[in-house]
Parts: sequence; structure tokens; C-alpha cells
Amino acid sequence: MQLIIKLFISCIMLLSSFVTADTTITINGVEGSAERGRLAFGSCRTCHYPEQSLGHNNGPSLWSIIGQEAGSQSGFEYSEVFQQANFVWTPELMNVWIESPRQFLPGNMMMSVPVKNPQQRADIIAYLLKYKEAGKQRTP
Ligand code: HEC
Repeated sequence: MQLIIKLFISCIMLLSSFVTADTTITINGVEGSAERGRLAFGSCRTCHYPEQSLGHNNGPSLWSIIGQEAGSQSGFEYSEVFQQANFVWTPELMNVWIESPRQFLPGNMMMSVPVKNPQQRADIIAYLLKYKEAGKQRTP
């Protein structure tokens, strides 16, 4: 009987570990967590949605943004500098961008407060990566 209960409990624990699996990433030695990032992303959400179905807001959609060409989404009017930008978003570039948007691409129109805290930046990036992984699952 005790064995059955133990088995039952370990099954539940295994299942819940799948349900609550976090997405993490280490940037410059700081480990970011998508779960914490959900809260830290609050400041970005005023202007951006990471959910595919919500599309663009005041800022372009951030659905699966990491791995995408910068300034290239249709249906959003980017500034000149973003239209001419020629790079792909990596976690490292995202880290520099949200730390100092003005310096990263002078002349861009993202009026956000720089995220100075490295932990918060890593958490936000882990959160964005979660939406990239979700994209991969849908289109294998
Ligand atoms: C006040 C509104 C606002 C806030 C807050 C804001 N953004 Fe933006 N963001 C924009 C706008 C507008 C653009 C387009 C900039 C341009 O075209 O010059 C942009 C562009 C971007 C891009 C480029 C997207 C692409 O398609 O290449 C990324 C990535 C991004 N923002 C991430 C973030 C993150 C992460 C945060 C939170 C830390 C954030 N933004 C906060 C308005 C905002």
C-alpha cells in the first residue's frame, strides 16, 4: 500500500514538473528565468505583446522575436534606422538593446526606460525565448 502511494506521489511530481517547466538562459553569467520574466516583461507589455494572436501594439509584435531579422515584420511601421537594420536578434543583442535602446540604434523610436538590472534583462530574455520555443513546436 505504501509503495502504491509513493508511486502515485512520484507520478504527480513528474507530471507537475512538465507543466511548470521553466525556460532559462544564462547571459554574461546571469541565469534568467521565464517565470520571473513574465513579471519583468510588464514594463514592455505597455507597447509589445509576445503572444502571436495579439499581433502589434504601439511596438511591433515580440512573438518568437529571437532568431528573427530586426525591423522586418510586416504590418508595423518601423523608423528609418530599423528599416535599414541588418542583423538577427540573438539573446546577447537583446541584452544590449534593452539595457540602452538609445545607444544601440540611435534614431530609433522606442521610448522605453532602459532596463539597468542584469537579472531583469536575463529574465525578460528567457521569457521571450519561451515564445520562440512555442513557435518551434508549432512548425516543426
Ligand atoms: C513606450 C513603448 C515601448 C516600450 C515600453 C518598449 N518598447 Fe520595444 N519598441 C517600441 C517601438 C515603437 C519599437 C519600434 C522602434 C523603431 O521602429 O524605431 C520597438 C522595437 C522593439 C524591438 C525590435 C523588434 C523588431 O521587430 O525588430 C524589440 C526586440 C523590442 N522593442 C523589445 C522591447 C522590450 C524587451 C521591452 C521591455 C524591456 C520594450 N521593447 C519596451 C516601443 C516600446
